[in-house]
Amino acid sequence: MHPLINHYTVERPLPLEDLLVEIGFGRGEFTVKLARENPDRKVLGVETSGISVEKLLKRVLREGLRNVLIAHMDAYWCFNLLLREGSVERIYMNYPDPWFKKRHTKRRITREENLYVFARRLRQGGEILIRTDHHPFVEYTIEQAKGLGCFEASVRTVTVEDPLTKYERRWVSMGREIYELRLSKLREPEPRPVRTVKEVVGVFPVKVEGREPAPDRIAGREFKLGEGIYLKTFGFHRTEDTILVEALLSEMGFVQKFYIEFRRKGSAWVVDVSRFSQVIRTENLQRSVEVLAQEGFTP
Ligand SMILES: C[S@@+](CC[C@H](N)C(=O)[O-])C[C@H]1O[C@@H](n2cnc3c(N)ncnc32)[C@H](O)[C@@H]1O
Repeated sequence: MHPLINHYTVERPLPLEDLLVEIGFGRGEFTVKLARENPDRKVLGVETSGISVEKLLKRVLREGLRNVLIAHMDAYWCFNLLLREGSVERIYMNYPDPWFKKRHTKRRITREENLYVFARRLRQGGEILIRTDHHPFVEYTIEQAKGLGCFEASVRTVTVEDPLTKYERRWVSMGREIYELRLSKLREPEPRPVRTVKEVVGVFPVKVEGREPAPDRIAGREFKLGEGIYLKTFGFHRTEDTILVEALLSEMGFVQKFYIEFRRKGSAWVVDVSRFSQVIRTENLQRSVEVLAQEGFTP
């Protein structure tokens, strides 16, 4: 299995047990360390940053680490769409973005909605281990976890005796407080509805006859497909028989980037998601193809 998860080909949910997961791996040192220390376990790194993903992927391939998987996506959606209930043993979050401003707290990785999907994927007795130097973040997370009634929370201050990264060692020796918050799963949380996307078996191409593509009509635009559902387009690349339009679809916060391809076929044009785009096929992806096929041709 290639370390970078391809939504298009991967078996979902992943057929794995006792997973160790790091959310927001940044430079990836911790994921690599975890993989080395647990050679017989699968370690999954989850990141939204493309640069971080590229860096870790290169390192994993270079060092031949066979037990690392990388998901380039938001952690909520990774757990929601890729992981089986009870299949995770431990989740690590090291210095997650604390979002200092109050109006940003909704985006915090440890909001109740996220902790709920994390809890469902954890096995009984599994845990979430968080390191942070921001105490209000610890308090916020404990408060959010309380709402679920399935975790036991404990906090301690990290000391020089603990295994530390070189940055942590420097911080601790400078007298900076680092907190380790442990959320241990005691029981299943009460079931509740979750935000999700509607998947379809396949996305069908749209055939357009008797008209010529006009990609400048659709490039750099935003289409509202429904409440909380936006399709954005960027630039396009054109050759004689193909046009690739760069697009981004955001459905209730689930973001996918892909290319829509216009391909000449005889006297007609076919509009489809590029076969090089690794997407989860959703209802709104189908609608995106339809909207761009409708708008992207000369009248
Ligand atoms: C402050 S950095 C910490 C990086 C690393 N863990 C460390 O200790 O240096 C937080 C990281 O979390 C990632 N991140 C933020 N929100 C995320 C989410 N919802 N899902 C996955 N990764 C996320 C960011 O891209 C960033 O790389």
